[in-house]
Amino acid sequence: MKCSIINTKKNNYLKLEFKDKLYKFSPTWLIENSKDLSIRDKQTNQLLIEAAELKLSLRIDAFNIKNNNLIISFNNNTVHNFNIKDLLAPKKHPNKKLWNGSLKKIPSFNFKKFNNKMLKNILSTVDEYGFCLIKNMPTTKNGIHALTKHIGPIKETNWGSIADIKNIKKAYDLTMTERALENHTDNPYRFPTQGYICLHCIKNSDIGGENTLVDGFNIAKQIKIKSIETFNVLKNFKTFFQYKDKDTLLENYCSLIETDYEDNVVQIRYNNRTEIIPYDDLKKITEYTEARQCFWNLIKKKSNNITIKQTSGDMIIMDNYRILHGRAKYKDLNNQRYFRQGYIDRDILQSKLKIMQA
Ligand SMILES: [Fe+2]
Repeated sequence: MKCSIINTKKNNYLKLEFKDKLYKFSPTWLIENSKDLSIRDKQTNQLLIEAAELKLSLRIDAFNIKNNNLIISFNNNTVHNFNIKDLLAPKKHPNKKLWNGSLKKIPSFNFKKFNNKMLKNILSTVDEYGFCLIKNMPTTKNGIHALTKHIGPIKETNWGSIADIKNIKKAYDLTMTERALENHTDNPYRFPTQGYICLHCIKNSDIGGENTLVDGFNIAKQIKIKSIETFNVLKNFKTFFQYKDKDTLLENYCSLIETDYEDNVVQIRYNNRTEIIPYDDLKKITEYTEARQCFWNLIKKKSNNITIKQTSGDMIIMDNYRILHGRAKYKDLNNQRYFRQGYIDRDILQSKLKIMQA
């Protein structure tokens, strides 16, 4: 490892070279990242100083390396210690296993054997595959809670907490009919959109009613490989989603593919039933409708779909930022099909997973 201070009229920074990688640390960045007790609270890891008030004339005067520590003196007469490993730590990317219709084994768990270790495995699996199936959950009305009480609260929406999915006469959503449901993500008209869906089967219909699942991150990857222009249109065009009833009006402008600053896909959306394409420049609309058609063709493609027919006590947990789900139409002479659905916010499940993995 090579370390030096670069000092010019315009620049002052610490230069570290390690394994063919070059790192440049500014003095203010270093102070903000110092673990010194005057800078950051030991218990909460929160900043004690007002970082925006650090003098922009701050400079690095000298450094010294002792074992794994870098001791740096600054021109404000302070000295801070840094663990070199912490400075060079690469950014961790979540482990995502992309899949398509040839996924050999549905990731499943038997709730009868539930314990803390299984909970950790369930959450890690949802993070890696975007979903998992949990068998032998209680078939009581609020049986979802048997698992979710170990994760965190169910998200309350305008429909309440855990909602019925049943064929009813006065359906306020097409889920409450015997109609097939095309693959979609839930509620893109909400901001933020609910992170995870727990879909609990109390009783299924004898004929039809199978669920389809699609890995939206894999679809986005397929598009990116096929045409970066199409990917960019889906990333950049802000479409519009809306839900409306007599008491509620939910609206959100957003794109079908959301990426982070490194262009990693972090969320996909697709919901034909609630999209209202906004007015825009003719060229933009043409590009978007073409790109959306390409997206949809991959979403409905059989080789990208898996099918699960849930039986009593089966619950699917899925990542609503990644997995598209649909349902085959069903015939239910005795009106016995009864599913229940609850949402969990993204940060609630992710927090539980991170604490369990720490
Ligand atoms: Fe849905």
